[in-house]
Amino acid sequence: MFNFNQKNVLVVGGTSGINRGIAENFARVGANVAVISRSQEKVDDTIKSLRALGSKKVAGRAVDVRDAEQLKNQIVELTAEIGRWHVVISGAAGNFPALAMNMSANAFKSVVDIDLLGTFNVMQSVYPYLQKPGASIINISAPQASIAMIAQSHVCAAKAGVDMITKSLCVEWGVEGIRINSVVPGPIDGTEGMARLAPNDAMRDAVKKSVPLKRMGNVDDVANLCMFLASDFASYITGAIIPVDGGWVVSGAGSMNSILAAAMKS
Ligand code: HXC
Ligand code: NAP
Repeated sequence: MFNFNQKNVLVVGGTSGINRGIAENFARVGANVAVISRSQEKVDDTIKSLRALGSKKVAGRAVDVRDAEQLKNQIVELTAEIGRWHVVISGAAGNFPALAMNMSANAFKSVVDIDLLGTFNVMQSVYPYLQKPGASIINISAPQASIAMIAQSHVCAAKAGVDMITKSLCVEWGVEGIRINSVVPGPIDGTEGMARLAPNDAMRDAVKKSVPLKRMGNVDDVANLCMFLASDFASYITGAIIPVDGGWVVSGAGSMNSILAAAMKS
């Protein structure tokens, strides 16, 4: 359905889970793909896979999105290797379940710095190197941006901020033909995020029951939405916060409160 031949795609946080699935799906449809994350080992492994899937130009860098200066330098280098960016996915994130009273200021700050400040750093760093007009930026958000959850105050605050960056920069950069949207995955099977929030079968089953479609999603579900948003089919969509969650946010995600509350007691 999609053809991204000769399109350049950068996936930040693209070396595992959902974001790696997004990077690999863009590689399958012909895009040149670069990835960034902290671990050089994960970057190298992802690059190998992207090449095997058909990307003609691939590259990657080990950088922490909290380090604005390093990130800027590495994006300059990646742009020199790959070219200006048609698509940027910003999805680096951190999460652990912790009650507010059991979290240090640094614990709260770590998640805010990775998710929220990291998203700002990514967007500011790529801005000079975007294809204008036409670039599509996709920030990976989470249900916590709109659904309050026990043991998730750090993630709720950070991801709500991510969605407001999406909206505010869509207004600032729209005049240059840059589109910016948030994608909100629901519970996605086999990921680090769900392993941290629902670490056993009973919790996983409870999550599945709470989704209107009665299943968790998979990484391809999220990648398909990202490819659509990055394509010309979505050329009039910007500033949107779009769930891909089997209906979880409209009915069900709130049940995480009883699931997490029980886990926090045990
Ligand atoms: C309380 C905790 C904690 C926990 C860490 N901290 N885990 N506090 N409960 N379970 C505290 C530490 O004690 C420390 O505070 C501070 O957090 C920073 O921890 P570090 O380990 O030094 O930080 P760092 O190495 O930068 O690692 C960041 C991290 C880590 C977020 C803590 O887990 C990480 O790298 N995560 C990346 C992968 C990940 O989380 N993926 C899932 C994304 S899912 P002190 O005060 O001791 O210094 C997602 C949403 C899913 O985002 C939604 C599903 C529906
Ligand atoms: P994951 O596998 O842990 O992916 C996180 C990615 O970000 C990894 O590539 C990680 O690689 C990188 N990363 C983490 N901290 C970083 C930092 N400081 N600097 C640079 N890169 C960093 O998690 P996931 O569960 O697939 O989640 C992916 C995205 O989807 C996140 O934005 C998450 O909030 C969102 N989401 C997930 C779910 C779910 O069900 N899993 C639901 C809703 C939203 P390194 O370790 O090498 O840095």
